[in-house]
Amino acid sequence: MKTEIKLIDYLSTRRSIPAFQMSEPGPSKGELEAMLTLASRVPDHGKLAPWRFIVYRGAERWRISEALARIAMEDKPDLSVEMVKVENTRLSRAPVVVAVVSRAAPHFKIPEWEQVMSAGAVCLNLVMAANAHGFASNWLTEWYAFDERAYPILGVAEGEKVAGFIHIGTPTVPPTERPRPELAEIVTWVGDDT
Ligand SMILES: Cc1cc2nc3c(=O)[nH]c(=O)nc-3n(C[C@H](O)[C@H](O)[C@H](O)COP(=O)(O)O)c2cc1C
Repeated sequence: MKTEIKLIDYLSTRRSIPAFQMSEPGPSKGELEAMLTLASRVPDHGKLAPWRFIVYRGAERWRISEALARIAMEDKPDLSVEMVKVENTRLSRAPVVVAVVSRAAPHFKIPEWEQVMSAGAVCLNLVMAANAHGFASNWLTEWYAFDERAYPILGVAEGEKVAGFIHIGTPTVPPTERPRPELAEIVTWVGDDT
């Protein structure tokens, strides 16, 4: 269900809901297509679209999570029962997970750094597009975003990187506020002091 809220009110209150605090229902394929269309509407120097999406839904999320868990357990055979459960459910906490994949590469004009930042913009746009459609969202990376052994399991091709896994679902808890940086600590004013 689309949420009607003034943009300024949304931006003043936006919060993520942790993936493990999400449940069904997730967005339908049609809603996901609408969200991905919004998400891809980002600043993109050179119009390269240096990013793409992989959408994980249904039972595949369990199969992939279990394959990821096997890598984790290879590395740490003495994982606690609790952590084995965490590893076995990486992609099945939320009803839908979308990988935002960066395809940034050297280019004669557009710095690779700008292409990477555009993928970050896609991630936040998708977080917000999910909220606009009435769903909770959470931008996570976790170890399997950086471990290339996980890439064939996830469908990430050689040369690509994961900008984020956007978990999308129905919140089971209300959002609470969290501390934000003081402006004085992060802003440098230059010029007129009016
Ligand atoms: C690139 C990126 C990766 C992140 N990866 C994780 C993660 O792996 N685990 C985690 O708990 N939070 C991670 N976060 C933070 C969450 O996305 C979330 O935004 C934050 O905890 C709550 O902030 P918010 O309510 O303002 O969105 C990541 C954030 C970014 C930008």
